[in-house]
Amino acid sequence: MNAGNLKALVFDAYGTIYDVASVFQRCEHHFPGHGKAISELWRVKQLEYTWLRTLMGRYENFERLTEDGLRHTCRALSLELSDAVLRDLMSEYFKLATYSEVPAALERLAAKMPLAILSNGSPAMLQKVTEHNGLTDRFQAILSVDGLKIFKPSPRVYESAVNRLGIAKEAIGFVSSNYWDAVGAKAYGFYVLWINRFKRVQDELGVAPDQEVFTMNQIADWVEAGT
Ligand code: 2OP
Repeated sequence: MNAGNLKALVFDAYGTIYDVASVFQRCEHHFPGHGKAISELWRVKQLEYTWLRTLMGRYENFERLTEDGLRHTCRALSLELSDAVLRDLMSEYFKLATYSEVPAALERLAAKMPLAILSNGSPAMLQKVTEHNGLTDRFQAILSVDGLKIFKPSPRVYESAVNRLGIAKEAIGFVSSNYWDAVGAKAYGFYVLWINRFKRVQDELGVAPDQEVFTMNQIADWVEAGT
């Protein structure tokens, strides 16, 4: 595939643009010695709850599931979570840092084709974190699953981006660092670029991304070379 065949790039948010591990320091501040364990289990539970609630047909938005994941994490680690600390840690999700190469790579990509976000995040979370990082102008659309009341990797979510952008799925490049999301998008029919930030091994799901890269800069190089 030549990048010249793509008409838009659609990005996952958390773990791809925004560094979910950047909550670590605030977790460490409140619970010295436990920051790493909290931030890791918190992310696992946040994602697990999206899939479980989708299968159960019991949607709640991502902000609520993020909060539930934190409550569970602290209980599992025998740490007492006051309301004030819960509020403080939740507020970190509205100001997550980007991965370091992301702002410059997005600037290069936005010069070449329309960009959008398609995320499990709630609209308020996505808007705030994107504004906080000064990236709002980079995206033609910031799309949340919230209107559908179902989470990725449901094909209905990827399809909603096609409908909102008015671009055929074959002409959309989808970018995610989350392998489950990358293969969900591939199973739906997007051209998929997986940023393997964490040097993970591919899961056995019978489908694989079209390209594996390690930073967003490589996607900008590829797009610039082909357009
Ligand atoms: C997303 O942004 C949860 O990382 C996932 O959709």
